Amino acid sequence: MPETKVVLSEKDLPTQWYNLQADLPFAVPPVIHPGTHQPIGPADLAPLFPMALIQQEVSRDRWIAIPEPVRDIYRLWRPTPLYRAHRLEQALQTPARIYYKWEGVSPAGSHKPNTAVAQAFYNQQEGVRRLTTETGAGQWGSALALACRQFGLECRVYMVKISYQHKPYRKLMMEAWGAEVVASPSPDTKAGRAILAADPASPGSLGIAISEAVEVAASRPDTKYALGSVLNHVLMHQTVIGLETKKQFETLGEYPDILVGCVGGGSSFGGFTFPFVRDKLCGQAPRLRIVAVEPTACPSLTKGKYLYDFGDTAGTTPLLKMYTLGHSFVPAPIHAGGLRYHGMAPLICVLYDQRVIEAVAVPQNPVFEAALMFARTEGIIPAPEPSHAIRVVVDEAIRCRERGERKTIAFVLCGHGHFDLASYERYLTGQLEDFELPQSAIDKALSLVPKV
Ligand SMILES: Cc1ncc(COP(=O)(O)O)c(C=O)c1O
Repeated sequence: MPETKVVLSEKDLPTQWYNLQADLPFAVPPVIHPGTHQPIGPADLAPLFPMALIQQEVSRDRWIAIPEPVRDIYRLWRPTPLYRAHRLEQALQTPARIYYKWEGVSPAGSHKPNTAVAQAFYNQQEGVRRLTTETGAGQWGSALALACRQFGLECRVYMVKISYQHKPYRKLMMEAWGAEVVASPSPDTKAGRAILAADPASPGSLGIAISEAVEVAASRPDTKYALGSVLNHVLMHQTVIGLETKKQFETLGEYPDILVGCVGGGSSFGGFTFPFVRDKLCGQAPRLRIVAVEPTACPSLTKGKYLYDFGDTAGTTPLLKMYTLGHSFVPAPIHAGGLRYHGMAPLICVLYDQRVIEAVAVPQNPVFEAALMFARTEGIIPAPEPSHAIRVVVDEAIRCRERGERKTIAFVLCGHGHFDLASYERYLTGQLEDFELPQSAIDKALSLVPKV
C-alpha cells in the first residue's frame, strides 16, 4: 500500500507567502468609502490595522517574506501533514485518490493561527497593546488568543452568542490563553445595544460581532482590530497551506484534478487553493477544478449578489465588492458557526465571477453524514465547517466510482471537531434541522445594501 501521509521537514517550511494579486489577469474592484464611494487609502484603515498589514492588503508583490519570529511560532505545528484517505476510499469503493491537508494539528485546532500569529506580530512591532476581534465557531478567537499570548498582547473576543452558548469549552480555551470573551450582541457597544433593542433574543452573527469589535478598536488609540478571514492579507498568510500541499504533491509525483474547501469568509479555501489557482491562470493546469462549498443556510456565492456591501452588520466598515446576502442578514443558527457570514472574501468573489472556481451549497444533515463516515474511516473527528468539503469530496468520489474515473481529489481539513460534539449529538439523535434559505429573506436583506 502507498504511504498514508507526506510529512515535510521544518526545513521545508515556506519562507514567503504567495500573493495572488500579482498574478490576476483581471482587476479586483477596490474597497470604497461608504460616503464618497471613492477607493479608500491607508489613512482610512490606520485606526484599525497596523501599517504593515495595510501595505500587504494592497501589495502587488508576488512573494512576501514571512518574518522569522512568525516562522518560529509556525514551527510549533508546521509543516502540517498531507494524508491519503485510504480507508475512506475503501469504504466508498472508489477508484479516486482522496487526499487531505490536515490543519487541525495547530494548538488551537484549525488553520486560523497561520494568520493570527502574523497579525499579532505586526501589531506588536507597531506598539499596539490590545487586539479586539470577533469569533463565530470559536476557532478564530482561540487562534488570536494564542497568538496574542505569544507576543504579550491583550485580547478581547466578541463571540457570537449562539456559539458562546453551544461551545463553553472554546470560551474556556480562549480564557486559558488569557483572552477576555464577551457574548455578542453585548450591551458594551453601541452596535450591540441597537441589535439587542430590536431583538433581545438575537443569536448573533459574525457581522454583528465584527461591528462590536471594530467599534471598540476604533475608539481606543492603544487597541487595533484583527479579522480572521475575508481580507487579502489574511488569505495571503494562509497560503502556507497551499504552498506546502504543492510541495507534498511534488514529492508524490502527482497533481490534483479537483481541489475542495469550505468557505465562510474564504481564508482556508484561499490559502489552500491560491498557489494552484496561479497554475490554472497561467495555463499550467487548465483542467483543474476548484470547488468552494458553503451551507444552504448561508449561500453567499450560490445565491448572493455580486455587489458592494458592508463587511459588518452595523455598517461601520468600508464597502467591499463581494457576493453578499446583505449585511443585515442573520443566518439560521446552524452548527458550522464559522460559515455563518453574509459575504465572502473579495478575492474569492472575483475568481467565482470570472469562473476560475466553482461553488456548491449543501445542507447540514448530509454534511454530518459525511463527517461521521470520515470519522469512522479516517479516525479524525472533523469540525462542521470542513465537513461541508467532505460531503462534496464523498459525492465526487462516488461519481468517480460510477464513471470508473481515477481522479485525484484533495481537500483542506481545516479543523477538528473536539469542541463541536454537541452538534454531533444533535445529528446522532435526529434533532438536526436543514435550513434552506428562502429567496424572500435574501431579497429583503439585499434591498438594504447601499446603492453604489
Ligand atoms: C474550522 C473552520 N473552518 C472554516 C472556517 C471558515 O472560515 P474561512 O472561510 O475563513 O476559512 C472557520 C471559521 O471560523 C473555522 O473555524
